[in-house]
Amino acid sequence: MKVLVTGGAGFIGSNFILYWLKKYTRDEIINLDKLTYAGNLENLKTIENSKNYQFVKGDIVNKKLVDKVMKGVDMVVHFAAESHVDRSILDPAPFVKTNVEGTYVLLEAALKNKIKRFHHVSTDEVFGALPLHTEEKFNPQTAYNPHSPYSASKAGSDHLVRAYHTTYDLPITISNCSNNYGPYQFPEKLIPLAVTNLLEGKKVPVYGDGLYVRDWLYVEDHVRAIDLILHKGKVGKTYLVGGLTDDIPNRQVVEEILKIMGKGENFIEYVKDRPGHDRRYSIDWSEIKKELGWQPKHSFKEGLKKTIEWYIKNKDWWQRVKSGSYKAYYKKQYK
Ligand code: NAD
Ligand code: TYD
Repeated sequence: MKVLVTGGAGFIGSNFILYWLKKYTRDEIINLDKLTYAGNLENLKTIENSKNYQFVKGDIVNKKLVDKVMKGVDMVVHFAAESHVDRSILDPAPFVKTNVEGTYVLLEAALKNKIKRFHHVSTDEVFGALPLHTEEKFNPQTAYNPHSPYSASKAGSDHLVRAYHTTYDLPITISNCSNNYGPYQFPEKLIPLAVTNLLEGKKVPVYGDGLYVRDWLYVEDHVRAIDLILHKGKVGKTYLVGGLTDDIPNRQVVEEILKIMGKGENFIEYVKDRPGHDRRYSIDWSEIKKELGWQPKHSFKEGLKKTIEWYIKNKDWWQRVKSGSYKAYYKKQYK
């Protein structure tokens, strides 16, 4: 099987490629990635010389290139995206370009090249926000109501993917997943930002009252869900993938990290809130459990410990990532 992965040099994409090549040793992977600030080939160092792996540096918006790399491909797993909400607030343009137009270009090429499966990796943020202190969860019937330029652009791409199935019969699947964390996550997102700031002796910025709730999933559990959807999922279907069922406010997430890292609460710094900040996310993943037998393996505590250990062991990786252009972004965002 020949698999085209887009955005494979990013956080989830690189975890996916490492997992896939270890498990399906006869498969071939082409990784198409533009190497934006978030793309990092160091993540794939252990497999870069494998004969069944090929890297192509390029933009998913480039029709000619996309059509070329899709020749002879059986499956497309589409991760490439601009993925950070705060950056989408500072500048929405690349979000519309990559997430909406890029997905359209891939869909056209997938039709032309008779791709057997196009899997689109999306987010729970397309559903908007849930109220605090309720049992409500996002489920496959929840209406789309995105609030940030990021989530709106992902919602647009989801609709396009489904439309290509309904209109042109393209064999698609979609997964809408909650907040991932784990190795190789760019330290702009809450958990790696907190861990690496603490390793540098810096405080952790917590937005607003810190009572925002996310549904956290260890990245390996997400990758396993995609594997199952690709092998056993129903064509045309959207699957919701999530982690813990308990609500953990951001403040408590940071407190857990402080505890594991032996630091006091004086390392928390409450900062200005994010505009349009979604209050709460929670996912009902009972359908994928029932249909495909998937469920998360890592408890939040276990996943967090593994993640912190990884960042402690891989100081070189995040120190390189945190130097350069990231410094300018950090200054702008947390001024
Ligand atoms: P990331 O930002 O770490 O990586 C994105 C990758 O896409 C990078 O390697 C980047 O270079 C590449 N890329 C960006 N624009 C591109 C373009 N125009 N052409 C080719 N490559 C391009 O993102 P991530 O956290 O790994 O997320 C991967 C996917 O999963 C995204 O689609 C995201 O919306 C979705 N998702 C992420 C989370 C999460 O918690 N991180 C949760 C649910 C869904
Ligand atoms: P983030 O990791 O950016 O993911 P998303 O916005 O896609 O859910 O943020 C997770 C939560 O943490 C979200 O409620 C915003 C909050 N947050 C902070 O409090 N401080 C920070 O420095 C960051 C980056 C996020």
